[in-house]
Amino acid sequence: MTEVQNLTKLIGQLGFDEPTHQPGSYPEFNPVDVIRNYITEELHKLSNVDKSIIFPALDCPNTLDKGDLIVPIPRLRIKGANPANLAKEWAENFPKGNYLEKVESQGPFIQFFISKNYLTNVVLKDILIRNEHYGELPLGEGKKVIVEFSSPNIAKPFHAGHLRSTIIGGFLSNLYEKLGWNVFRLNYLGDWGKQFGVLAVGFERYGSQEKLSTDPINHLFEVYVKINKDITEEKESSGESQTSKTDDDARAFFRRMEDGDPDAIALWKKFRELSIEKYIDTYARLNIKYDLYGGESVVSKDSMDTAIESLEAKKLVFEDKGAKLIDLKPFNKKLGKVLVEKSDGTRLYMSRDIAGAVERYEKYKFDKMIYVIASQQDLHTAQFFEILKLLDYPWAKDLVHVNFGLVQGMSTRKGTVVFLDTILEETQKEMLKVMQKNEAKYAQIEDPEKIADLIGISAVMIQDMSGKRINNYHFSWDRMLSFEGDTGPYLQYAHSRLSSVARNAKVSKDNLQEANTDLLVEDQAFHLIRLLSQYPDVLARAIKNHEPSTIVTYLFKLTHVVSSCYDVLWVAGQAEELATARLALYVATRNVINNGMRLLGLTPVERM
Ligand code: ARG
Repeated sequence: MTEVQNLTKLIGQLGFDEPTHQPGSYPEFNPVDVIRNYITEELHKLSNVDKSIIFPALDCPNTLDKGDLIVPIPRLRIKGANPANLAKEWAENFPKGNYLEKVESQGPFIQFFISKNYLTNVVLKDILIRNEHYGELPLGEGKKVIVEFSSPNIAKPFHAGHLRSTIIGGFLSNLYEKLGWNVFRLNYLGDWGKQFGVLAVGFERYGSQEKLSTDPINHLFEVYVKINKDITEEKESSGESQTSKTDDDARAFFRRMEDGDPDAIALWKKFRELSIEKYIDTYARLNIKYDLYGGESVVSKDSMDTAIESLEAKKLVFEDKGAKLIDLKPFNKKLGKVLVEKSDGTRLYMSRDIAGAVERYEKYKFDKMIYVIASQQDLHTAQFFEILKLLDYPWAKDLVHVNFGLVQGMSTRKGTVVFLDTILEETQKEMLKVMQKNEAKYAQIEDPEKIADLIGISAVMIQDMSGKRINNYHFSWDRMLSFEGDTGPYLQYAHSRLSSVARNAKVSKDNLQEANTDLLVEDQAFHLIRLLSQYPDVLARAIKNHEPSTIVTYLFKLTHVVSSCYDVLWVAGQAEELATARLALYVATRNVINNGMRLLGLTPVERM
């Protein structure tokens, strides 16, 4: 984490006394924490309540008309007193000092409003100085988190569930990084199993080396669909017996893979490597780069043996017709019975997840490991988490499942199944059409295809991240590509408009942090800076709820407030000093929107 300790310095320059640091506050990084510390100190003097109780009682109200921070008096746990009376008394006597504009009581709440001087001379300047680092907090310093996300299955479609896992996981990785964690991005591919036998047999019959190297993902899927059709047909025409020669061959091929046959492994490896190569490019379009492409194939047989042996030693395993199972009901009624080994000795998705987690801990010694997996696998995930707990791994408590709901109706416009790539191609084309409608603007854009791609990607991502993770949503081409309402294209538009204000301003942009920001006196300006001051807190909230929508909602609020500023706070045609002060405000806003968009995984555009 870059050390930019200017916040303290700025406060010193203004001649403000710096309040004492409360544990859990980051006043060098977060301008609102300075205010929290000030309130804590002063309220302690007035009320005699312990600072360690006051500090965590400070809340952010939903809307700014209720203040920048509030204290619900009941949270101070004072016995026998009327909270509303106390709120009134303390609000009246509260020393506003340099930090507060106004202190009011409202029922049992005290509402605190940040001083204008602090907003314009500390918050705004801090944002300009800190720039792309604004929002960073050292919450996870020295700690390591593994984020496992996306995890598609080779040769099967990259479906909407994988898309959501990719988007949410990419965002969480960025968020943890911004908040000081050492992040390890892991893709756990579905790269082992009978489907590879099916694919190998299919490749012999329908495959093309050329197509495999140019378009591996689509080609392998094409082969997979054809060969599965053969299998179904053979089974149908075999009548009662439901057998298929092709299926038997596939099984035999997978057996060879399991036995380590070099030819079988070589072909499998080729499929895997070519697919990964292609994935790397697709993920790059979403600004995602993995530290490791692992997968089911990588979990070693030894660690699976060891895991099952330890479970047996703890007398947790029972056998049923040669298969090995664990009964989790005594520990948690909802978890039921879990199959960990089939009667023929084959290991399962479950056994790999158990052993895989152990391997990862041994190798990386994580402080936290996040699995971004669809809620359809809630039971599976809860089961293997529970099993790891039963194995007494102390780190089992540090596993987190970040789940999410379904995307309904995600298909191309023609209605066929999709890979991520296809969706991105198609959005790009649609976006380009929308852009071409405005001929004059279109002519000014340097690389319209690239811009259309970036806006298209934002459309897909913002649609996905706007609601609570757990909710299902309907994939809607028209809504997501619209420039109206809270959509990806609108967010890009808001960013590019701010960029154009900066481009067109006829004043020097070199030293905006030296601007005379005392000239910002309009309500709209204060409203905007108050919102900007919340950004580090918004990040801190998002790392607790793991909700991308926390950031998305905040960014749209910002875009709405800034658009109300345009009518009042002109830059063009103003005297230089005033124009510079207003420009400082717009540039700071642009920085925060830019930071937020990048955090989400988007690439903000300068023109569109
Ligand atoms: N490949 C799996 C699927 O497509 C998702 C893997 C999720 N991660 C895990 N550790 N089980 O369903």
